[in-house]
Amino acid sequence: MRQETPVCYDERRETWDVFRYEDVNHVLKDHDAFTANRTLEADESSNGGSDEMPMLQTMITTGPPEHNRLRGFIDERFQPGAIREYQPQVEKVTAELLDDLENKQQFDFVDEFAIPVPVIVIAELLGIPADRREQFKEWSDALVARPEDDTQEEIQRVQQGQQQAQQEMGRYFAKLLEERQGGDGDDLVTLAANAEELSRGEKVGFCILLLLAGNITTTNLLTNTIWSFEEEGITNDVRTGAIDHEQAIEEALRYRSPIQSLKRIATEDVELNGQQIQTGDILTLWLGAANRDPEVFDDPEEFRPERGSNRHIAFGTGVHFCLGAHLARMEADVAIEQLLERFDRLDADLSDLQPLSSLYGLESLPCEVS
Ligand code: HEM
Repeated sequence: MRQETPVCYDERRETWDVFRYEDVNHVLKDHDAFTANRTLEADESSNGGSDEMPMLQTMITTGPPEHNRLRGFIDERFQPGAIREYQPQVEKVTAELLDDLENKQQFDFVDEFAIPVPVIVIAELLGIPADRREQFKEWSDALVARPEDDTQEEIQRVQQGQQQAQQEMGRYFAKLLEERQGGDGDDLVTLAANAEELSRGEKVGFCILLLLAGNITTTNLLTNTIWSFEEEGITNDVRTGAIDHEQAIEEALRYRSPIQSLKRIATEDVELNGQQIQTGDILTLWLGAANRDPEVFDDPEEFRPERGSNRHIAFGTGVHFCLGAHLARMEADVAIEQLLERFDRLDADLSDLQPLSSLYGLESLPCEVS
């Protein structure tokens, strides 16, 4: 596909599929011709809006110049220097989870490690009380759920679950933001509460976006990393330092990108790699395919942790480049390093892998450790 029809229209899904690295990169950076604003899509009900909880405007679906206002107030807090300050907190969260696993010989890597690490970390950064964490996981699961089949009932069930979760979370955050307004706390909810440039709805939208964008993606990065290490038989080499774990995690991001595709809408008639795109057309940008483009990566179908410069775009690019990229990387570095330090032996069972239906990851990954 990437070589023969790098940009092609899918009649059934009514979208242009874009596969090549150069094209995906170009579309993501050309904010004038392509927008992430999904309210331009024909089916407005798909954005989850309702009278009680109008559609939340957030940075991820808003282009420049508005985008700067929605992201600018918090950007600094997600830069590498600021993220390093959170490292001790992430180390503590990880160590506590590993303490619980230490007495077990078997556990499910996804349920017992890869899911709780990012949920607890983001809840701590937002300043969410510990007793609400379970509820948070349920909300974020409901928000990213996908129908298991094409039946109308199943689609409705998932949409209702999403709307309910969004309303409940919205109410919860609205209350918390009000309570913290004017406070001098260092947590992200207080920072949002005190951001004068944001409306009430935008503050709520920001809090929900962090949970939505940061949890399952980081879970899948951790899972896909261990899955790849085990498949390649390199877990021990990473443990001993023979293979650099940070580079190996970057390779996992390229090889099994947690977000495989992004959507954009053309705001003008434009040509893309020989195809004529019309105003209003939807484009599906395949990050996963771009990250395996042989024009950019040698032997792209091979997992090669020693790749020198890994120019993958698993975190996107352009103005919407992932706000949490440095946080996700730090979480993965800490979590994987501590996990391998804690157990001399880790064997994952790769015999019956169940892929997730939505993002690139696994339902479960049974592990034996000692
Ligand atoms: C945006 C991937 C973790 C917050 C994005 C985008 C990608 C991405 C591809 C671009 C979306 C677009 O262009 O439409 C990932 C991956 C992660 C991860 C693969 C984990 C491995 C996180 C974390 C957080 C986060 C931990 C926050 C705690 C965001 C936000 C945006 C974003 C707020 C929107 C940025 C903007 O529109 O300016 N992420 N993400 N992400 N991500 Fe992440």
